Amino acid sequence: MVSKPHGGRLIYRVVSDNRRENILSSMEEYPWVKVGVREAYDAENIGFGVYSPLDGFMVSDDLDHVLSDMRLSNDIPWTIPIVVSLDGRDLSFGVGDEVLLIYGETPVAVMQVEDIYKYDKDYYAERVFGTRDLAHPGVYNVYREMGDLLVGGRIELVNPAPNPYEKYYLRPIETRVLFRERGWKTVVGFQTRNAPHMGHEYVQKTALSFVDGIFINPVIGRKKKGDFRDEVILKAYTELVRHYYPRDSAVLSIVRYEMRYAGPREAIHHAIMRKNFGCTHFIVGRDHAGVGNFYGPYDAQEIFKEFPDLGITPIFFREFFYCRRCGGIVHEKICPHDEGDRVRFSGTYVRNAIRNREAIPPYIIRPEVARVLLSEPEPFV
Ligand code: ADX
Repeated sequence: MVSKPHGGRLIYRVVSDNRRENILSSMEEYPWVKVGVREAYDAENIGFGVYSPLDGFMVSDDLDHVLSDMRLSNDIPWTIPIVVSLDGRDLSFGVGDEVLLIYGETPVAVMQVEDIYKYDKDYYAERVFGTRDLAHPGVYNVYREMGDLLVGGRIELVNPAPNPYEKYYLRPIETRVLFRERGWKTVVGFQTRNAPHMGHEYVQKTALSFVDGIFINPVIGRKKKGDFRDEVILKAYTELVRHYYPRDSAVLSIVRYEMRYAGPREAIHHAIMRKNFGCTHFIVGRDHAGVGNFYGPYDAQEIFKEFPDLGITPIFFREFFYCRRCGGIVHEKICPHDEGDRVRFSGTYVRNAIRNREAIPPYIIRPEVARVLLSEPEPFV
């Protein structure tokens, strides 16, 4: 049995072909809101059920509950606000109207407006990110990019934003069928925003030893400077899976989603998304969804204690590293040696090695993956 969707029912909210035709042929009659890529991807995730039970962008009641108790107003666990903001200067619509959410030239969704409301940015930043420091990319976004008003209501997807990686994308209705076809009763989800190093591989394979299959699910979307570019992550994972995973034990598929870097709260959100794809388990390692030193290395594991009703089982890992004395990839629970024997998978080290076109040892990155990273003229955002 793959997992039950969050909230009990998989949401699918996509306009019929007829309605799409009608909307596209009379677009100028609709009021509209310009949205960014984050909201465009959020709309897609609502439409395809990745965010079940959400069937739209949040109204103030739900946002209040999410900020104060990490639950929707119906008490279902939910930690990350899913909102559309506007600056309100030329508000040409009101509650009860249908508006189009436009990304670039694409009408991504149609919304039945249920609520237009103000929110307190200090409280929002403090609750979601645990800080108001603008050096945090999620906080920066709240203060510098989000408007002062939010608009909430149910949506239907009209046209997803253009997807250059369509062939790497499976919707929850598809992954659920695929897992069943493979006969997987237990599936562990792996979230990543990175090209894979050996630490990632060991976390995945250790988890995979206890379940039937792994769902490797890199996030594709706007990231912070210094992160790997989407295309590079996909090429790198394709190589890794081709050379190092048994064919029937891994599914590689993307999700389009903008990282919030909200550490513990985002780990819960990541788990919920993978539950909706059909995963029964979810990997949370060191500093999951963290950035800089804003969160403790295992805060994103601790938070799961507050959600006994999450409906997906987290699998926690300490930090994996290479130990010269052990001669392998280990972690502190199984390696007795000193710090001097240990080589950690430092993002900074990997970035510098790639920038300087230096050879990367195979106990840090698989040669096939290193070849991809070193052959890219500009692998970073
Ligand atoms: S994240 O922002 O998506 O969490 P990343 O892609 O680096 O970043 O990590 C994906 C998952 O692997 C997370 O659960 C993270 O905690 C885990 N992870 C990354 N590196 C290690 C490591 N060296 N040891 C243990 N877990 C790790």
